[in-house]
Amino acid sequence: MSAPAIKAQFSRPRLIWREFTRALADLLPKGLYARSLLIVIAPMVLLQTAVAYIFMERHWELVTHRLSAAVARDIGAAIELYREYPPGPGDDRLKTICADRFLIDVEVLPPGPLPPPMPKTFFSELDPVTRALPDEISKQIHRPFWIDSVGRSGLVEIRVDIGDSVLRMITHRNLAYEPNVHIFILWMLGASIVLLAVAILFLRNQIRPILRLAEAAEHFGMGRDFDFRPHGAREVRQAGYAFLEMKKRVERTVEQRTAMLNGVSHDLRTILTRFKLSLALIEEEAEIEPLQKDVEEMQRMLEAYLAFARGDGGEAAAPTDLKAMLEELKSDAERQGAEVSVQTSGALTVKLRPNAFKRCLANLVGNALRHGAHIALHATREQRFVSVHVDDDGPGIAPEHREDVFRPFYRLDEARNQDESGAGLGLAIARDIARAHGGDITLATSPMGGLRASVRVPV
Ligand SMILES: Nc1ncnc2c1ncn2[C@@H]1O[C@H](COP(=O)(O)OP(=O)(O)OP(=O)(O)O)[C@@H](O)[C@H]1O
Ligand SMILES: [Mg+2]
Repeated sequence: MSAPAIKAQFSRPRLIWREFTRALADLLPKGLYARSLLIVIAPMVLLQTAVAYIFMERHWELVTHRLSAAVARDIGAAIELYREYPPGPGDDRLKTICADRFLIDVEVLPPGPLPPPMPKTFFSELDPVTRALPDEISKQIHRPFWIDSVGRSGLVEIRVDIGDSVLRMITHRNLAYEPNVHIFILWMLGASIVLLAVAILFLRNQIRPILRLAEAAEHFGMGRDFDFRPHGAREVRQAGYAFLEMKKRVERTVEQRTAMLNGVSHDLRTILTRFKLSLALIEEEAEIEPLQKDVEEMQRMLEAYLAFARGDGGEAAAPTDLKAMLEELKSDAERQGAEVSVQTSGALTVKLRPNAFKRCLANLVGNALRHGAHIALHATREQRFVSVHVDDDGPGIAPEHREDVFRPFYRLDEARNQDESGAGLGLAIARDIARAHGGDITLATSPMGGLRASVRVPV
């Protein structure tokens, strides 16, 4: 056997085990709360089932059979008494003895056939008396008998054919079994409910801080404000403090980066402006034209850096007509020579930060414009979200680069030998804006062949 084959042989049980655990994980609830409750409930239910089974099956059956055997012996004694000392007319002694000593009410009926046996029902099968008493009677009395343990709830009626007459005996059901077993079950159920309530209460309090931490991390990731104070168990608090510390460090880093970018861009802009002025003063010559172009491009890039460093500057959200915004973007793009179509559906006047959101869309349209000749803008409203798709017919972006291009200063154009250069900030800014609105941007393949950039924000 080759080495891989041997290895495959050995790893098969592990594979099956892994499949099994995966299937189990699929079946189990996903939430922490539900899982912890399950951890509390499952052993409790198992334990109670075991206890109830042992108790019912062993103890209770045994007691019922013993008590039923005692009742059967009393019935046997009554029959013996009747046969050995048949009472004369008007002689009530047998009845009195049976009633006083055996708690059995005896009556002598004329001979005749016994009634047909009682039909078996689901409940009579569950009834301990119906199961145990006939057994015990047939063990002790070897005569045909008929029993009704269902009819009158508190009593059991037994008729025994003793040849020359039929003896009808009525006794109390309670004598034949242990009637207080439900108290045990009630105690068990009650105790479980109390335990469960306590578990739910405690677990909720333990899990809430974890959920709050997760929520805070999610908000932080989306760039939203949130109010978070660590509390709960020591480990959870520790994680909370670590998270806050990390948040502070991230914010400090971002702040430093932004400040530096801002400073550098600002200083360079001043120099560039001077440069441009000097160029303008030089007499018109062919050599300075490329120089002028370069200066202009540098200035454009600096503006982009500055826009990125500024962020969206605390603009207030206001009801905005998205359809009008798309039309504006369309005419801007058409002026630069692209063919643009706009398609909208649903109510598109939504609350947004209009300038920021327009910059976000403009960056996407700008990209489409740079890479394709045809652009389609498509806005839809689905319940609590609006989505805007920007499609183009350019080269698109390979799936493995679709996350990278959102990184600031990351550009694919250099590799593609595109002469027109950008700063590589367009998508980073666009995503920042979308996330500040609580949404996101995703990239996909457009039905037009190029890239589809989709902005989806909640409204
Ligand atoms: N519609 C598109 N089709 C093909 N590639 C694209 C498209 N949009 C973006 N890209 C690629 O993603 C990279 C990052 O885009 P991004 O908008 O962030 O930067 P940029 O367009 O190069 O510069 P800037 O937008 O700052 O002027 C680009 O360099 C480009 O290669
Ligand atoms: Mg761009």
